[in-house]
Amino acid sequence: MQNPHIQTKNLSNLLEKYSKPIPRYTSYPTAPYFSDQITAKTFQSSLTTLPNGQNLSLYFHIPYCDTLCWFCGCHTKITQKYQPIAEYLVALKNEITTIANIIKQNPTGHPVTHIHFGGGSPTILSPADFTSLMQHIKSSFTLTKNAEIAVEIDPRDIPDDMLNALADNGINRISVGLQDFDPQVQKAINRIQTFKETKNVINKLANLGIKNVNIDIIYGLPKQNISKILDTAQKSISMGIDRIALFGYAHVPWMKTHQKLILTDDLPNAQQRYDQAEAVAAYLKQNGFNQIGLDHFAKHNDPMSTATQNGTLKRNFQGYTTDEAAALIGFGASSISSLPDGYFQNQPSLPSYMKTTNQNNLATVRGLILSTEDHVRRDIIEKIMCQLKISQADIISICKKHNFTNQTELLEAYNQLTKFEQDGLIKKSNDHFTIPEHARIFLRVIAAHFDAYLTQNSGDTYAQNNKNPAENTDQPARKGRHSLAI
Ligand SMILES: C[S@@+](CC[C@H](N)C(=O)[O-])C[C@H]1O[C@@H](n2cnc3c(N)ncnc32)[C@H](O)[C@@H]1O
Ligand code: SF4
Repeated sequence: MQNPHIQTKNLSNLLEKYSKPIPRYTSYPTAPYFSDQITAKTFQSSLTTLPNGQNLSLYFHIPYCDTLCWFCGCHTKITQKYQPIAEYLVALKNEITTIANIIKQNPTGHPVTHIHFGGGSPTILSPADFTSLMQHIKSSFTLTKNAEIAVEIDPRDIPDDMLNALADNGINRISVGLQDFDPQVQKAINRIQTFKETKNVINKLANLGIKNVNIDIIYGLPKQNISKILDTAQKSISMGIDRIALFGYAHVPWMKTHQKLILTDDLPNAQQRYDQAEAVAAYLKQNGFNQIGLDHFAKHNDPMSTATQNGTLKRNFQGYTTDEAAALIGFGASSISSLPDGYFQNQPSLPSYMKTTNQNNLATVRGLILSTEDHVRRDIIEKIMCQLKISQADIISICKKHNFTNQTELLEAYNQLTKFEQDGLIKKSNDHFTIPEHARIFLRVIAAHFDAYLTQNSGDTYAQNNKNPAENTDQPARKGRHSLAI
């Protein structure tokens, strides 16, 4: 049953109290703590020493779009010409070859279980180029028979031959960018997208056999209100989709200057954002969806719901995932790889990325090698972000898994969780703490309690360091009143 709604006074008190900017924990430690001491050489040695037979997940970043959505926080470039995209693809293929050659040195092989194309807009590629990219990936890596191959889709003006190319190349999951169907909201964010064209694309792909569909919705957009976002949610589920990602609009005009085109007066305030998020969550839960972690929803029989129930749900740079591969390799400008021993980020600048990969070199510019304590804290934070609960036994078993003997500080931190009880952000039941439904938006506050980097540094350090908020993370950073999910 839904817990009591947080009322205006309490909510503003809580927002003020927990106003420090907090990461979304798509990684731990988070990107602002990556160091430029980590180089291509470090990445190469980590790739070479991947455990035998280690499953791989591959992410390909396509940083181009043909029009600018004013709310956009992603790492993308607007272009009306195809030439820059064609040139980028050459560089991307070179990077694939370079990495595949390093990986092939391991005789046991590394089966690929997941592939994700994100952006920007991967569907900006010509059908022929998308096919050629897929062929290059398939000839460079060994894909498992049931590998999940997902593509982020911008359904505006996507040609039929591109839909065919997706199906012909074995795509079996799509994530459709939507945001809001209301014409006034769409005008205020410079993204005109009709229900008809969105539905057509989803229907055509379903007819071609691609039936696993996520839709991205955003709350907190200019001119948005509860009835508009509920209408969007209702229209979304009428299209027979099985997942929804409900993101809070991250207004970061000091980092994404084009967001200045959005009028601040048109933006809902914190309480209105909270009410919009709660209204959609309640609606989706009444209509056959489970709420997953911070911001995802999945049908009861969806693998993401199953993973949540059996405790195997994971969090990576794309957000929540059923992908259990412990090694994710990010290809493309700004992409981040997450390998068993650490994180490695590519050059975000397109010309530098292309120059480096075209010379058959790795484009790594920064990263972080995980200490044993980082591994332990990462597992604890992931458990909280995915399962909304933690017990003393969990902490002891995670420490044991990583042979971490210095568990006293973590157990103390665990006992200190009681301090969140008075604000209703956590509940002690028998042998564990849970985050109650109404406090889900404060989930990151509880996760941050175990973040050793955040407690050593001020929140401002996080916001200042996080110059390029979207990268291949699922969402941009937040600052000030948008520091929490609301
Ligand atoms: C790479 S885009 C999805 C694919 C495609 N480019 C599109 O927009 O249709 C990823 C998603 O990030 C979300 N997003 C982008 N900027 C955001 C922002 N400032 N705040 C919250 N969500 C944002 C949107 O929901 C968007 O669908
Ligand atoms: S929201 Fe998607 S389509 Fe719009 S500019 Fe950003 S990446 Fe491109």
